Amino acid sequence: MRGDKHNAIVVCRHEDIGDLEARGFEYGEPELRLTGFVVRKGDGVFAYRNICPHSGHRLNWKPDAFLTRDRDLIMCSMHGAIFDIESGVCVGGPCPGKSLARLRVEIVSGEIVVYPD
Ligand code: FES
Repeated sequence: MRGDKHNAIVVCRHEDIGDLEARGFEYGEPELRLTGFVVRKGDGVFAYRNICPHSGHRLNWKPDAFLTRDRDLIMCSMHGAIFDIESGVCVGGPCPGKSLARLRVEIVSGEIVVYPD
């Protein structure tokens, strides 16, 4: 994460994250840090809160590890729920049909910017 101002989080440059790669970030007040992540798929970038709809755990077990081995789905490391990258909908595992909480994201001057509110 490179910046956090005016409720906008500059995660990284678009070119710094490869196709089908994810990048985590933190945001919020120091005493209540929250985490999210972005996933790049082609030219698209998708952002979600790092909270699994199954039972509220963080999805990753190590930094930036949000995807399945073949990187075509988002995966929760806790109980193996898998989610569509573009929609955030669970397509397998213990919470089918539930969705990750999406965050607004856009590319601004080549940088990936997330708006958590
Ligand atoms: S907390 Fe994510 S699959 Fe159970």
